[in-house]
Amino acid sequence: KKVVLAYSGGLDTSIILKWLQEEYDCEVVTFTADIGQGEEVEPARAKAEAMGVKSIYIDDLREEFARDYVYPMMRANAIYEGEYRLGTSIARPLIAKRLIEIANETGADAISHGATGKGNDQVRFELGAYALRPDIKIIAPWRMWDLNSREKLMSYAAQHNISVEKKADGKSQYSMDANLLHISYEGGILEDPWAEAESDMWRWTVSPEEAPDQAQYVELEFSQGDIVAINGRPKSPSAVMEWLNKVGGEHGIGRDDIVENRYVGMKSRGCYETPAGTIMLRAHRAIESLTLDREVAHLKDELMPKYASMIYNGYWWSPEREMMQTMIDASQRHVNGTVRVKLYKGNVSIAGRQSEKDSLFDERIATFEDDEGAYNQADAEGFIKLNALRLRIGAKR
Ligand code: ARG
Ligand code: SIN
Repeated sequence: KKVVLAYSGGLDTSIILKWLQEEYDCEVVTFTADIGQGEEVEPARAKAEAMGVKSIYIDDLREEFARDYVYPMMRANAIYEGEYRLGTSIARPLIAKRLIEIANETGADAISHGATGKGNDQVRFELGAYALRPDIKIIAPWRMWDLNSREKLMSYAAQHNISVEKKADGKSQYSMDANLLHISYEGGILEDPWAEAESDMWRWTVSPEEAPDQAQYVELEFSQGDIVAINGRPKSPSAVMEWLNKVGGEHGIGRDDIVENRYVGMKSRGCYETPAGTIMLRAHRAIESLTLDREVAHLKDELMPKYASMIYNGYWWSPEREMMQTMIDASQRHVNGTVRVKLYKGNVSIAGRQSEKDSLFDERIATFEDDEGAYNQADAEGFIKLNALRLRIGAKR
C-alpha cells in the first residue's frame, strides 16, 4: 500500500503524514508544489525526510499554473457569485492532476489531502482525482480521525515529535491559502460576518488609504485574450502575474471581503487579495469591448456564471468545462491589442484601449460629428417602428 500526500510542510499536513504512517501503516510519498504561494517549498523536503519519507516530490508549477489554468479562466472573465475571483478553486485541479501523475509513477493506489470535510477543496481534489483515475483510493483524514480541535492536534503533534514551530512570518489565526492568483483568509474573527477584517491581516496589498498619491499607468498587450507583454516587454504568464501582483499590491488593488455559498451547502465568509487577477480582468474586458462582436460578448457573459460555478464546484476536469473552454478559446481569436490601465488607491481604471488589426470600433460610424454618409439616420426610423409593433399592439389591448 502506497499513498501520495499533498504535503505543504505545515503543521496540519505533517500530522496527516504521521497519521497515515501510523494508522494506515502505509508508505507515504509526499508532493509539495510551488504555485506561487510565496513561501519556500524546500523546507518540506527536510521535514518529510525526518519522518522517514523515501519518495519526495517538490515541483515548481508556477508557469503551468499561470499558463494552463489561470490564463484560460481569465479568457472567460470568470467570477463566482459576482465577486470571487476563484483563486483557490483554480489551483485545485492542477494539484489533483499532479497527485494522480505521481501515484501512477510511483505505483501508489491512493492519494491523500489536508482539506476538511466541510469545505470545497475536498470536492475539487477528489472530483479531479476520480476524473483522471477512476479507481483511485482517497484518504481524507479530516473526515476520519477524531483530531477535530486545535488542542487535540497539538497534543498529537507533541506525542509524535512533530515540531509546531510558528511560521516565520508570525501570527495567523486564519485558514489561509495562497498561490499566484490570490491569498485567502477564512476563519478566526472572520466567522462573524459583521466583524471587519483587521488591517494587519492583509499581506499582499497596502490599504487604499496608504497607497501612493501618484497614479501609475501600465500598458498590457493582449494576444488572443492573453496578456503577453507589459509596457512593451514580453513576459511569460507567471512573470505577468508576479509583476502585476507586486505593482497592484503597492496600489492597494484587489481586496475582497465576501460571504459565499460553498458547494457543500453552507455560507462562508472569506477575505481575498487578488491584485494581478483584478487588473487582468478589467483589462481583458476592455480589450474585448473593442474586439468582440456584440452577440459573442453577450453570449460569453451569459455563460460565464455557469463556467465559474464549474470551477468553483470542482468540475475543471469535466466534459462540460472542456466544452465551454473550447468555445471560450475560439471567441478569443481577435482579442488582440493593448490596454492602458491606471492604478490608483485600490482602483483599476481604463485609460485607453487600442487594437490595430482587430478593432470593431468604427470612429466614422460612431461619431457625433458629420459622418459623411457612413450611417443613414433615416434607417433608424423603420428599425424602431418594427421593434415597436408588438408594443403598440399590446398597448391597444
Ligand atoms: N472559499 C474559497 C474557495 O472555496 C477559499 C478556500 C480556501 N482554502 C483553504 N484551504 N484555506 O475557493
Ligand atoms: C477546508 O475546508 O479545508 C478549506 C475550506 C474549503 O475547502 O472550502
